Amino acid sequence: MANTSVLQKEQLKNRIHDLCQEKNALILAHYYQENEIQDIAHFIGDSLELSRKAANTDSEIIVFCGVHFMAETAKILCPQKTVLIPDMDAGCSLADECQEEDFKNFLRKYPDHFVISYINCSAAVKAQSDLICTSSNAVDLVKQIPKDRKIIFAPDKNLGRWVQAQTGREMKLWDGSCIVHETFSEEGLLKLKLKYPQAKVIAHPECQEILLEQSDYIGSTTKLLNYTQKDISNAFIVLTEPGILHQMRKRNPDKLFLEVPGLEGCSCNKCPYMRLNTLEKVIECLTNNQPNIIIKEDIREKALRPIQKMLEMSS
Ligand code: 13P
Ligand code: SF4
Repeated sequence: MANTSVLQKEQLKNRIHDLCQEKNALILAHYYQENEIQDIAHFIGDSLELSRKAANTDSEIIVFCGVHFMAETAKILCPQKTVLIPDMDAGCSLADECQEEDFKNFLRKYPDHFVISYINCSAAVKAQSDLICTSSNAVDLVKQIPKDRKIIFAPDKNLGRWVQAQTGREMKLWDGSCIVHETFSEEGLLKLKLKYPQAKVIAHPECQEILLEQSDYIGSTTKLLNYTQKDISNAFIVLTEPGILHQMRKRNPDKLFLEVPGLEGCSCNKCPYMRLNTLEKVIECLTNNQPNIIIKEDIREKALRPIQKMLEMSS
């Protein structure tokens, strides 16, 4: 995409617009997508909002510009629709580190536990769960689990630890993490805090505890975005994937947004999976109706229950 001129990009965007009209397709995008993908999306949101949108659309085709577990969730909710993902390799380290069989063996050790799984997991793991949550509703949902139930939380230990602290509920945590949120450098954060002492630090709960402890506000991507609009500060140090800065800057053109670097100044604060999607791949998938998501019906039915429960339980 580096060599694509502004004119070529406009042509690609126009082509996507025409294809969507022709095929009655809806483009959903997560905030971690490249700016140009966010700009062609019909709807941008966090994981919870994207699943709600997928569940309620009349469009025949959903193009999911996000990662595999998100597109899979849309397919679980709308089996009759075609769900396309521009790049089938757009995975997620959290989902990859929690494989179906390993999870089954883990659950066998704690047979009397209530299983709540973060939406960042495969359909096969969702199918073994009692309830699904996202980063925006995890605290609220855990609070609703009866006090006498023991709880397993998978697969993100950082989110799990934060939810434990917020709710006071002990939980058995699966040992998984996000390769992006694990990489933010504390040194990088401290340097930014020194340089911009009035800036508020806002963080996604997938970050490590040491960084969350130094944050003024913690929340899902949508909650962080809303906070930047409501809060009176004019500078924010953002501890999440920097794709979100595009919407933050659009909504707050006069405020300053600073991204925290990854360890040793690498660009690994960008999600390598989310960034696989491109305008060209969106055109390709709309043209060929693939790659499309396919899920075995028995798994889909089992995975649907805890997702529906989440949608019913979250306000
Ligand atoms: P959100 O629930 O905030 O959209 O987060 C999803 C995600 O993958 C964060 O890394
Ligand atoms: Fe998965 Fe992390 Fe990428 Fe989110 S940012 S999709 S949790 S690897």
